[in-house]
Amino acid sequence: MSIKNITCIGAGYVGGPTMAVIALKCPKIKITVVDSNSSKIDKWNGPIDNIPVYEPGLSDIIKKTRNKNLFFSPNIKSGIESAEMIFMAVNTPTKQIGEGAGMAADLKYVEACAKDIAKFSKNNKIVIEKSTLPVRTAEKIKDILKKNSKVEFEVLSNPEFLAEGTAINDLFKSDRVLIGGDNTKSGKKAIKSLVEIYEKWIPKEKILTTNVWSSELSKLASNAFLAQRISSINSLSAICEKSGADIDELSKAIGMDHRIGPHFLKASVGFGGSCFKKDILNLVYISRSYGLDEVADYWESVIKINDFQKNRFVKKISSVFNNNLKNKKILILGWAFKANTNDSRESASIYVTEKLHNLGAIIDIYDPMVSSSKVFSDIELFWKFNFDKSRINFVRTLPKSTYQYDIAAILTEWEDFKEIDYGNTEVFDGRNILKNKKITNYYEI
Ligand code: UDX
Ligand code: ADP
Repeated sequence: MSIKNITCIGAGYVGGPTMAVIALKCPKIKITVVDSNSSKIDKWNGPIDNIPVYEPGLSDIIKKTRNKNLFFSPNIKSGIESAEMIFMAVNTPTKQIGEGAGMAADLKYVEACAKDIAKFSKNNKIVIEKSTLPVRTAEKIKDILKKNSKVEFEVLSNPEFLAEGTAINDLFKSDRVLIGGDNTKSGKKAIKSLVEIYEKWIPKEKILTTNVWSSELSKLASNAFLAQRISSINSLSAICEKSGADIDELSKAIGMDHRIGPHFLKASVGFGGSCFKKDILNLVYISRSYGLDEVADYWESVIKINDFQKNRFVKKISSVFNNNLKNKKILILGWAFKANTNDSRESASIYVTEKLHNLGAIIDIYDPMVSSSKVFSDIELFWKFNFDKSRINFVRTLPKSTYQYDIAAILTEWEDFKEIDYGNTEVFDGRNILKNKKITNYYEI
């Protein structure tokens, strides 16, 4: 079946950029992105410099496609009715209450989405899981669709592998596109329809088709592998600190082995982002539910090292000041979980800054892309309102120097931070980006 109308439910960090690229590459397909958050839709339809997702290259694509073959709409019903193919790109955070709380993925948004698809569909459709989901979620989605509708649905898994900050390039030149579907006549037909879309710009040999469960598990496994590399190098950075070895020299030496490879070996104050922790917790939960406790413990240790690294960073700062940070003036550089995004989900900064605040420090926060309102809403949400607002301030422009601070803590690898004059301030570099800058009082992670 040749697809003419696609709807994507969820206009976030995955849905927005992915649909923008499909719209650019497939000008004959009409793409509608819907979201239950109508103010987010207003922003997607508003001034180009204020769209909800900051991603290099995205605004240029939106300029070229918006209101031509890419539309943003709050009307979920008509979005579902008009599409032959529906992507689900809603958020799947970790469950906060009920069975599996703190570990399993919360599927309430996915389930609500499936119910809407069942309710509003008047003819057969292909439904595609784009969000990261636990293995066998497609089965749950199928059940919901079957129970609540008379039309036929084919459910495919097509996990997203884009990394924020490089999303557009990742979508243009994907290492692979994974499509999982049923090995039935209609399943194969649905897979073919999706393959035909990606083939417009992705070489055939990079489009991999599998069964649904392999596709779902591959996404969790890929993220777990990536996070595990970071925890491995971060655990070694602690040994380097004690032994006098240099972590960046070590990364280079390890990465030159072609079996290991050079990527994802950068020591840091810890990984953040909406995926790694959530997906590993998911893997741990699945492992335990299959009675595979050793497997669960293995993957859980990746998160333990990540927490250890954030604590180690705070302890290091504190120890340089004889474990007394009361009224010390600290400049926090970076709130986003990585450079080139305005996303702060699971950012190391949220955690490290809370600890420094609790030790009595006076804190200024600067980030080039995360807004002041987002910083304060993160603080309220994650510090549970337990903070002294008089000791926290948001800085609106890039500081030229840090002379007025006792401490500068670099928590995101923004290039801009290389331009600051650090003078004699004690600089704690949680990303090792200033290594060659010859700063007087410099501490790497
Ligand atoms: C990740 C996966 O890379 C992507 O394939 C998946 O679709 C979603 O999850 P993302 O979280 O957007 O993408 O960014 P990523 O580049 O993976 O970085 C995650 C975190 O790891 C960031 O906090 C980053 O700073 C940190 N990181 C990355 C390191 O600390 N060291 C590294 O060597 C690489
Ligand atoms: P991701 O990084 O996975 O894209 P985001 O939180 O950035 O996550 O985006 C997910 C989007 O999905 C949000 O804008 C949210 O409002 C939207 N959403 C969640 N549930 C539904 C639903 N049932 N119907 C429509 N939109 C939804």
